[in-house]
Amino acid sequence: MSTAAVYWWMARQMRRHLAGLGLVGAQIAIITALELLKPWPLKIVIDNVLGKVPLSSRLGPRILGLAHAGWLLPAACLAQLGIYLLLALLQLANTHSTVVIGQRMVADLRAHLFDHLTRLSWRFHRNRSLADLMVRVASDSYGVQALAMNGVFPAAASLLLLVAMLTAMARIDMVLALAALLVLPALALAILVLNPRIERTALAARMAEGAIYDAAHRELAALELLQAYGAERQASRRWRLASALNLKRNLNLYLMQTLYGGMVSVLLAAGAAGVIYLGARHVVQGRLSVGDLVVFVAYLGSMYAPLSHLFQTHGASQSALASLRRCLELLAETIEIADAPGALPLTRPRGALRIEGLSFSYPAGAPLLAEVSLTAAPGATLVIVGPSGAGKTTLAGLIARFDEPSGGVIEIDGQRVQSLTIGSLRQAIAMVPQRPMLLAGSLRANLTLGCAKASRARIARVVRVFGLEPLIARLGGLDARVGQGGAPLSLGEIQRIALARAMLKQAALMILDEPTSALDAESEAQLLSAMRALAPNRTVVLITHRLSAARIADRIAVLRGGRIEEGGTFDQLVARGGYFSYLYHLQSGGMTQGASGLETARAISAR
Ligand SMILES: Nc1ncnc2c1ncn2[C@@H]1O[C@H](COP(=O)(O)OP(=O)(O)OP(=O)(O)O)[C@@H](O)[C@H]1O
Ligand SMILES: [Mg+2]
Repeated sequence: MSTAAVYWWMARQMRRHLAGLGLVGAQIAIITALELLKPWPLKIVIDNVLGKVPLSSRLGPRILGLAHAGWLLPAACLAQLGIYLLLALLQLANTHSTVVIGQRMVADLRAHLFDHLTRLSWRFHRNRSLADLMVRVASDSYGVQALAMNGVFPAAASLLLLVAMLTAMARIDMVLALAALLVLPALALAILVLNPRIERTALAARMAEGAIYDAAHRELAALELLQAYGAERQASRRWRLASALNLKRNLNLYLMQTLYGGMVSVLLAAGAAGVIYLGARHVVQGRLSVGDLVVFVAYLGSMYAPLSHLFQTHGASQSALASLRRCLELLAETIEIADAPGALPLTRPRGALRIEGLSFSYPAGAPLLAEVSLTAAPGATLVIVGPSGAGKTTLAGLIARFDEPSGGVIEIDGQRVQSLTIGSLRQAIAMVPQRPMLLAGSLRANLTLGCAKASRARIARVVRVFGLEPLIARLGGLDARVGQGGAPLSLGEIQRIALARAMLKQAALMILDEPTSALDAESEAQLLSAMRALAPNRTVVLITHRLSAARIADRIAVLRGGRIEEGGTFDQLVARGGYFSYLYHLQSGGMTQGASGLETARAISAR
């Protein structure tokens, strides 16, 4: 994203803060006027009190009366004090106003970023580092404030001061004013030459900042594994490498910033020295009074100081620009899976599922699904089995539109899922993902995630059916909190809660991906039949490796080699002697008496 585009975005954001900007503008105008007034009391002291030259302004005769009474000196000193006091107050107010605008812009940007991130697809999130995204939302978003406070507002104030001071200086001495201007082309040249490098270095430093958070997150998230394999030292080494790169890039940026600041200081000092030299000669030649020279030099200071600040903080501004660029890049990510134009809500879903000729492949991957066709009538139980990596989880995600198929159709109640609004489609589906997830929060919030209005009685019934009562009692009630990832619950307990949550949602279609893999076979059978009894009208798509669970199916489909290899009832498939039968005998091997299941399985696999 170009620098101009970032500033254009800033300008559009600032339109929301017009009242605040008006206030800042008024403050800057008054500050400029006070800066213009600032050296005048000293000039009066030098020229009119010490130099005894009569005041020549229109106010002169009246103030002259004071001067004769010996009041001009204290009046000038009081005026000086008043001007400085007012200036200090206004600068304080100005800082406050700009901070308020800056902070509001940060809050707006963060909200916008977070909303956008929640709408981006699984595919986007799978390919991005969570820690880097967090750095962008939480830390890079400050870039908008830093850029406003180090770049935009000081630049506006400097420009106004520059014009005001130059006009006032030209009225005092045109030649000196032109001499003071001479440093500007030199400063412009410095920006032109050094800026692209500072910009690049600042962006690299911000990226390295994201990378150290990413490295820390990656290692700490896998800490149990690292400790189990005694690999903490390797992890520390990897982290130190990322940290060293970050250090190097930050030092680079500071070095460039210091060099740049130093160069600007030298240029401004040279400008000031030239002006003082010329000005002193003008005083000697009698073309300028000493007081005028003092006013001139003070104006020069007022003009150079904000310019100097602007350039000294240039590195910080570029860092802020780089941060903001990282935020805007995220906002520019297109939401891949969105409502199609004219998408309609799915009303009164019944849960009829039809998949026809479905194909899908991951980017840069071989075709995973090819010509998959399946149906499930409302209220039916469809079980999908198949070897690991066959694409069962992928298929479940396609039904809920977490990805788009490359061909074929998926219909719910006779309507293509792409023609439905995503909100209503996902409302009609209760999903238990293969890696069950709990939110950090109360058990109640976890259970009622898809159905905030579930009555107490309903919650109690579902909790009972899923055997969660002892667990909830042990934890101290439904308001007990669980930590990140459901800690301290066991995987089986998490799976029970995930199933209960899906049940409470009362969706027409339930998609359960290995929902009971961590439960013992007895609990699994109890749970699944209780679930069916509790919601007989819902369509259930159950993905499982455990054939004991497949017994509840009205129909079983075997997904293998990218297509549905076999389909039928449990008994039909066992009798058919195909892959399902092979799995059945393999899993029942050792448990069957007489003819060994394992032997039968071997015989089938040998065919
Ligand atoms: N985001 C992705 N990008 C590329 N390949 C992927 C992605 N997600 C999954 N895959 C690959 O697609 C294949 C199917 O994955 P999927 O999770 O659908 O399998 P599965 O049938 O559910 O397996 P399991 O029984 O082990 O859960 C796997 O080989 C997997 O490595
Ligand atoms: Mg899977």
